[in-house]
Amino acid sequence: MKVPQHVAIILDGNGRWAKSKGMPRNYGHAQGSKNVETICREAWNMGIKYLTVYAFSTENWKRTQEEVSTLMGLFQSYLDDYGKRADSENIKVKIIGSKAGLSEKMKDSIEKCMERTKNNTGITFNIALNYGGRDEIINAVKNISQKVKENEIKIEDIDEKMISDNLYTSEQPDPDLLIRTSGEIRLSNFLPWQLVYTEFL
Ligand code: IPE
Ligand code: IPE
Ligand code: MG
Repeated sequence: MKVPQHVAIILDGNGRWAKSKGMPRNYGHAQGSKNVETICREAWNMGIKYLTVYAFSTENWKRTQEEVSTLMGLFQSYLDDYGKRADSENIKVKIIGSKAGLSEKMKDSIEKCMERTKNNTGITFNIALNYGGRDEIINAVKNISQKVKENEIKIEDIDEKMISDNLYTSEQPDPDLLIRTSGEIRLSNFLPWQLVYTEFL
């Protein structure tokens, strides 16, 4: 069987799934987050080397305060508990996205989780948290511009590789397959640079 090297997943439809069971949206988020752990383990068993999941977008702050705080609570416990389990399963966890707006506690947990698992040699598991594709590109443009300004590089040196190297996913291959679990066919600001040739399911 031919297996993709890098799979990206837009974890969507939690709210609708819960509603179909007569449950509140937050129940969907809790169940969905449990599922991700299984997906990560099975992905590695299948031979997938990189898994990237979209957990919270820069646009998701517009949801109700109650929903945002439930989601943040889930990420917090995920990082603290799962961070340790991931380490024992040889998973390299990377949190990609902006730190702006995250609590100090969350930023600390992100650092600890990434530090603890950075030398692991199993699947690379990217969690896109407070991630926005346009935000990521703005960030890359700023980094590169700074280097031009300081005469470290010339404008002519800017190429695709340099842009890729300045994204959160630097040093990783682009995803071969993108899955959106709700069935919608929309990127919602997820990995716009990296997904140009990705198959969509
Ligand atoms: C995805 O499920 C979870 C996050 C965006 C964090 P949704 O909450 O978007 O669920 P639906 O799409 O409204 O059903
Ligand atoms: C995409 O789902 C973002 C995440 C899964 C984190 P959304 O439910 O937020 O996207 P839209 O609003 O339907 O585009
Ligand atoms: Mg949705």
